[in-house]
Amino acid sequence: MDDTVYLNGSFMPSAQATIPVLDRGFIFGDGIYEVIPVYSSQPFRLQEHLSRLVHSLDAVRIRNPLDFSGWQAMITRLIQENRAWKDQSVYLQVTRGVAPRDQAFPVPDVEPTVFAMSMPLSTPSAELVASGVSAITALDIRWQRCNIKAISLLANVLLRQEAVDHGVAETLMLRDGWLTEGSSSNVFIVHEGTLLAPPKDQHMLPGITYDVILELAEYHAIPLRIGAVSEAQLRHADEIWLTSSTKEILAVVSLDGKAVHDGRPGPVFRRMYALYQDFKNQVMRPR
Ligand code: PDD
Repeated sequence: MDDTVYLNGSFMPSAQATIPVLDRGFIFGDGIYEVIPVYSSQPFRLQEHLSRLVHSLDAVRIRNPLDFSGWQAMITRLIQENRAWKDQSVYLQVTRGVAPRDQAFPVPDVEPTVFAMSMPLSTPSAELVASGVSAITALDIRWQRCNIKAISLLANVLLRQEAVDHGVAETLMLRDGWLTEGSSSNVFIVHEGTLLAPPKDQHMLPGITYDVILELAEYHAIPLRIGAVSEAQLRHADEIWLTSSTKEILAVVSLDGKAVHDGRPGPVFRRMYALYQDFKNQVMRPR
């Protein structure tokens, strides 16, 4: 069975969805995207994902092609069309549209290209959660607007491939000696029982999962400090975590070939993982 996608107002099999080669997304990577996890056919934190989408559109001055209820209706139908998968990962993309090749914005304005697809959501297995994963570090070679969820991801692609080449799960990035994030995840560390989170700024994507972790930490009185994390703090951390919509929370147990603490997911991770699953099941899974 072919999966159903959405393109510019219509639903169709993915094999039939085509865009003109002069689309600025194809030519310049001129567009933005979102990834929304869907559990038991319900999008998780839809409002927050759509707010971040609007923030990304505003930041690059692309007109929002749909209002909130328009996005919601489209996403609901897309999930329904792909209901063979109980848990899904919905991908939304908006580009500036199709125009003769010129870096400047098209004049007159053109219609943005709107594309959405869904994929099966495969969260990390119980074994991976229990064992943790390995990571490497690299210089953050990206631009200064990492808070925009832009489709121009060449630096992230190269950084993620470095992880694959080293046989590890993720590349953690350092900019001027400070931890920013992973190639496709946010990063937290734990030091003597306190959770440390890099602050939301132009050097990292404001993760929706990151916010859920902060909320859970506050609600359950887990000591928390939001502030810049140095390379030394990262290398001496008791625990390192990755968070994202598709990874949820994963412990990093080896960094650049060296064990993180005792090389096993730590107690604060195990507690937060359980809190996250409880929270998710409470809000997402029908009783
Ligand atoms: N990536 N930082 C980067 C660079 C990311 O690409 C992502 C997510 C995150 C975590 O954000 P969130 O918790 O909202 O998923 C942080 C998605 C999953 C992707 O590109 O596939």
